Amino acid sequence: MTGLGAELPPMADGLCYEPTLPLPYYSDGTVTLYHSRMQDVVPLLDRVDCIVTDPPYGETSLAWDRWPSGWPALVAPLTSSMWCFGSMRMFLDRRDEFAGWKFAQDIVWEKHNGAGPGQPDRFYRVHEHAAHWYLGAWGSLHTGQLRLTHVGPLRASTHNRAGTPHRGSMPAVDWHDDGLRAVRSVLRVHAMHGHALHPTEKPTGILEPLIAYACPPGGTVLDVFAGSGSTLDAARRLGRKAIGIEASEEYAEVIATRLSQGSLQFGEEQEIEKTAGAELLVGGRVTRLADRDEVAPSVGLFPTLEVPDR
Ligand SMILES: C[S@@+](CC[C@H](N)C(=O)[O-])C[C@H]1O[C@@H](n2cnc3c(N)ncnc32)[C@H](O)[C@@H]1O
Repeated sequence: MTGLGAELPPMADGLCYEPTLPLPYYSDGTVTLYHSRMQDVVPLLDRVDCIVTDPPYGETSLAWDRWPSGWPALVAPLTSSMWCFGSMRMFLDRRDEFAGWKFAQDIVWEKHNGAGPGQPDRFYRVHEHAAHWYLGAWGSLHTGQLRLTHVGPLRASTHNRAGTPHRGSMPAVDWHDDGLRAVRSVLRVHAMHGHALHPTEKPTGILEPLIAYACPPGGTVLDVFAGSGSTLDAARRLGRKAIGIEASEEYAEVIATRLSQGSLQFGEEQEIEKTAGAELLVGGRVTRLADRDEVAPSVGLFPTLEVPDR
């Protein structure tokens, strides 16, 4: 499929050629990576279950940090569900670019530390947002159940009587602790300080809950700004297929090396405060999150970058 819609001009030999996907830069049967501008590849792709991506915010002087105008509209034919990382400033500045999308929810990634020393006239920023956008009917989306087993004593059962003044016409409700807790919208996960492969690398620990939520097991996740390949790596760990696009050859090479070295076991890098040691229900399977002491400080396979995250 081309998705381009327009009639193709004849070539010098008088024949018409449909644009085709470039050869993958890396492929292992589960992950496919294209080294290209996303604008050139996206119109040639088939639909995917969800997009999880982290665009250039356009907030630094880094050479690649330029917002490709119109990309949220360009990817819209490919999926109905998209997690997009960004700062509040980015989402406000670019709000018109998301005009066709409906806003569903957002999560806050709380890092253990911020970027550099901070600015004396501002709060010390230690977080990023990821916004969940969707198209079509909410009920038609895949929305996975995310529940954590609670570490510690169960709470006492409660009984809320019907007819009390502050409950109005609400019926009586009995609540019993089943030992499960909803995953909260503020997730505390260590940033990649000291062992990042990319200046704005996202830890797989923040990506895994988003992927598990939006993509069914065996489904396909697309990251159109793949960077170090963190989304692709996290998707593969979770038993999802993944497609990545990365314009920089340097980072395409980082991704290929990272993925051909194999993944760490699920949970090895992550730390979700208060839930470490708990179990995460992902796609019907229970997966144990790492205890704090087990958090691996480094992948150890690559040269590391000493750059502040944004
Ligand atoms: C914010 S970084 C992604 C970092 C990634 N989430 C990670 O964890 O490593 C954005 C990436 O998009 C790439 N990029 C910028 N413009 C692009 C374009 N037009 N098409 C594809 N990739 C692009 C940059 O080279 C950069 O690596």
